[in-house]
Amino acid sequence: MTTTTTILHLSDLHIHRQRWRPENRRLARIVAWILHRYESAAPPPVVVITGDLVDDGTREQYERLLELLAPLKAAGLPILACPGNHDSGPMGNSYYVSARVDFQRHVLGEVMGIAGTETASDRMAELFPLVHTIGDARFIGLDSVAGMIGESFHFAQGALGLAQIRKLRAILATPHAGPTIVYLHHHPFNRLFTECLRDAEALMGAMKDKVDVVLFGHRHRSALWSPKDGIDVVIAAGKTTEPEGDDKFELREVALRGRAPEVSRYHIDL
Ligand SMILES: [Fe+2]
Ligand SMILES: [Fe+2]
Repeated sequence: MTTTTTILHLSDLHIHRQRWRPENRRLARIVAWILHRYESAAPPPVVVITGDLVDDGTREQYERLLELLAPLKAAGLPILACPGNHDSGPMGNSYYVSARVDFQRHVLGEVMGIAGTETASDRMAELFPLVHTIGDARFIGLDSVAGMIGESFHFAQGALGLAQIRKLRAILATPHAGPTIVYLHHHPFNRLFTECLRDAEALMGAMKDKVDVVLFGHRHRSALWSPKDGIDVVIAAGKTTEPEGDDKFELREVALRGRAPEVSRYHIDL
């Protein structure tokens, strides 16, 4: 029997330390909307957050993020997340070891319950790709900041690095009966230097015909490709905590029954 997995794609929350900041207040309202809408959903939807969860990677911002996500966790919704450039240091263009360690401890450890985050290095190479099986769906989270560490760079550009792509290939070579979802922060095929993933071609090649859904963020512009290069559905989320042109917030839901993804777009009037 095939199970249905529902995914809610959030991205680029850019949470601040101060409670009054618009992003913080909006996330609280979006969380309340999700809890109301999916109150009686069984199984509960899986919330996937594709990076830039906080604005500068400070501990205070991560603590605020945890407070805001706590009602989802308390209601039993699984939360999956990967790091973005803003999770890794100030302005999204710096690398702070403390920011990466705080991402590990707070997001991977406390929100996602991943073991070993206390002892992992700030490079997190031993933790990624993150693999979770929920229902019959396999979720693979990538760290698109990893390949940029130690280089002089424009941090808005991302890279996975060869080691992570090799590990991803090995994971995808393992047969999986249900759908496979890959999520990451940076754009996997945009050609603009400042917004692309440096090893985009290698990633797209590795995922071709092996992945059903790809979710990402970073550009703060939402878009949908279906299909794209041997992948059924590719979704770019905008900045979830910023209203779209019509003053409404946008949230995409992906329903997977067997392997066929169905995408719905909700405009939330908050
Ligand atoms: Fe962002
Ligand atoms: Fe970003």
